[in-house]
Amino acid sequence: MKITYCGHSAMSVENAQGKTVWIDPFLSGNPACTISPDEVKADAIVLTHGHDDHLGDTVAIAKRCQCPVIAVFELASMLESKGVKVHPMNIGGGYDFGDFYVKYTLAFHGSSMQENGQFLYAGQPAGVLIRMDGVTLYHAGDTALFKDMALIGELNKIDVAALPIGDNFTMGPEDALLAAQWVKAKHVIPIHYNTFPVIEQDAAKFCDQLKQHGIEGHPLQIGESLEL
Ligand code: NI
Ligand code: MN
Repeated sequence: MKITYCGHSAMSVENAQGKTVWIDPFLSGNPACTISPDEVKADAIVLTHGHDDHLGDTVAIAKRCQCPVIAVFELASMLESKGVKVHPMNIGGGYDFGDFYVKYTLAFHGSSMQENGQFLYAGQPAGVLIRMDGVTLYHAGDTALFKDMALIGELNKIDVAALPIGDNFTMGPEDALLAAQWVKAKHVIPIHYNTFPVIEQDAAKFCDQLKQHGIEGHPLQIGESLEL
């Protein structure tokens, strides 16, 4: 599994055959990101929730690449009405897509889509487990720390966890340090930080703390990859 960090919570994961799954492709709206949504290749897009900084360029990429968008039922239905192919799922459910497997997990956050100044209910926010080439990634989405992360770690062998550290809207570094231990991740990629001033964090310091607990942290730059 080749994971490429694309800023904020966005990343692409690619298997040995080159099949590429995008998670939360917020690219053109992120001033720190120079990756163009017009150039990326996607075989599927997985969304954790409907907020703008996660939905991002999903509709444009899905239409151009003719790929399905995998999302919680309500969010999937809203995107289907925009002419996008969807695969609706919900918390606790897993599905084998052939080249990869996806399971939706809990997240404590909100989920809505903003249209004409109105907030539309977009179902439950989620985390996702994505497995390909025998490697399991846990992308926590936007969430608070919660003790059932330990259950996710008990039931799944998590090779790598993408955990928010920005604080304010999600877990901060102290809570993310506990999350990393509870999900028993071998590797951790910090996400959802430094995009806006209010979520500025020291990812290198966070990764030093992970190391003290025997966990390898990867403070990836935008466009940088980790292969597992
Ligand atoms: Ni959010
Ligand atoms: Mn967010």
